[in-house]
Amino acid sequence: MSTLPLQVVPPQGPLLRAEHVTLEYTGAQGVVRATDDVSFEVHRGDRFVLLGPSGCGKSTLLKAVGGFITPRAGSLRLAGRPITAPGPDRIVVFQEFDQLPPWKTVESNVMFPLLAGGVKKPEARERARHWLGKVGLARFADAYPHTLSGGMKARVAIARALAMQPEILLMDEPFAALDALTRRTMQEQLQSLWEEIGFTMLFVTHSIEEALVVGNRILLLSPHPGRVRAELNSHQFDLKSAGSPEFQAANERIHRLLFDPSHVAPAPQPAPHAFAVHS
Ligand SMILES: Nc1ncnc2c1ncn2[C@@H]1O[C@H](COP(=O)(O)OP(=O)(O)OP(=O)(O)O)[C@@H](O)[C@H]1O
Ligand SMILES: [Mg+2]
Repeated sequence: MSTLPLQVVPPQGPLLRAEHVTLEYTGAQGVVRATDDVSFEVHRGDRFVLLGPSGCGKSTLLKAVGGFITPRAGSLRLAGRPITAPGPDRIVVFQEFDQLPPWKTVESNVMFPLLAGGVKKPEARERARHWLGKVGLARFADAYPHTLSGGMKARVAIARALAMQPEILLMDEPFAALDALTRRTMQEQLQSLWEEIGFTMLFVTHSIEEALVVGNRILLLSPHPGRVRAELNSHQFDLKSAGSPEFQAANERIHRLLFDPSHVAPAPQPAPHAFAVHS
C-alpha cells in the first residue's frame, strides 16, 4: 500500500505583527516616549486603522513600520521578517501634498520610485498609466502637480504608492488637509479601489468617523504616550451607514473609550462585532 507524503503547510500568520512596541525620541529636551508597549496584528486584506488623539504616537508607529525608526523595545515583523530598514514592501502616503515633486509631471511622479527601484522605463510608464487610470487620472498624466486639486494630488500619491505593489500601504492622515466633501469622495474611492484590488493598508487618523468608514479593524490608542486602549471590528460600517443609529452609537462608544479614562469596556468577546479591550 502506498502512502501519500505528508505535506506540511505553514500556517498563514499575520502580515504585520507589532509586539510590545515602545518608541522613543531622544533629543536636547531628553527622551520623549511616543508609544508604550503597543501590540497588534494586521492580516492580508485588512484595512487596519490606528486611531487616537493628537500626539499619541500614530505617525511614529507608522514610521517604525516603515522602517524609519527602530523600537526602543518590542519588535515589528512583516511576513515573519523583522523590520530593520525602509523597503519597497512598505510604502507611505503622507498627508502633505508637497510629497509630489512639482517639476515632474503626474506620470513622472508615479514612475519615479519605480525607476529608482530598478524597473525599466517602458514597464514603469505602463504601470504608471495603469494606476493613474485606476484612480481616474489617466487624462492628467502630463499635468504638473500645481495644476491639480488637493483631492487629485492625493489620488496621484495613492497611484504612486500602489504602482510599487507594496505588501502593505501605510497611510498617515492622507485626507486630513482636504475639505469635507472631497475627503468623503476620497474615502469612497479608496474603498472601491480596495474592493477591486484587495490591498492591505495601515491607516492613521484622529477622526473617529473616518476610522469607522475606512477601517475593518480599529486600534484605539490612549493619549501620549500611546498605549492600546481597545481594538474593535468595524467592517460593518461604510459611508452609506454613516449617520445610522448603529454608526452613531459606535462613534459615541469610541469617543468614551478614547477620552473618558473611567469608561471601561467589556472583556473581549468572540463575536465579530465585539469590542476587545487591552487594559
Ligand atoms: N522628531 C521628533 N522628536 C521628538 N519628539 C517627537 C518627534 N516627532 C514626534 N515627537 C513626539 O512624539 C509624540 C508622538 O508624536 P506623533 O507625531 O507620532 O503623534 P500623532 O499621534 O501622529 O499626532 P497627530 O495626530 O497630531 O499627527 C509627541 O509627543 C511628539 O511631540
Ligand atoms: Mg501624526
